[in-house]
Amino acid sequence: MCAECHTVPEFSDPAFKAKWARRSVGDLYEFIHTNMPDSAPGILTEAQAVDLTAYILQLNGIAPGSAQLPADAARLRGLSLASLRS
Ligand code: HEC
Repeated sequence: MCAECHTVPEFSDPAFKAKWARRSVGDLYEFIHTNMPDSAPGILTEAQAVDLTAYILQLNGIAPGSAQLPADAARLRGLSLASLRS
C-alpha cells in the first residue's frame, strides 16, 4: 500500500534523518496514523501505525527494545529521535 508512493530507502535517507531527528517517535507515529496513506488518511489502525513506526526505526538502525512499542502517542512522544542525527 505504501509502495504506491514511497520507496523503502527514502525512510532512512539523509533528508529523512535530518527532518525527524528534531522530533519524537510519537510525532512519527501520529504523522503516519493521521496522514498516511495520503490517498486515504485515517484508514490505518493504531496497531498498524505503530508497526510501521517500528519498521521505520529499524530501517534507521535503531535496535528494537525488550518490549513492543505501545500504540500510545503520549508515551511515544517521550522517545526522542535525536539518535538519527549522525
Ligand atoms: C498516495 C500516495 C501515498 C501513499 C499511498 C502513502 N504516502 Fe506517505 N507520503 C505521501 C506524501 C505526498 C508525503 C509528504 C506529505 C507531507 O510531508 O505532508 C508522504 C510522507 C510520508 C512520511 C514522512 C516522510 C518524510 O520524509 O518526512 C512517512 C513516514 C510516510 N509518508 C509513510 C507512509 C506509510 C507508512 C504509508 C503506507 C501506510 C504511506 N506513507 C502511504 C504520499 C503517500
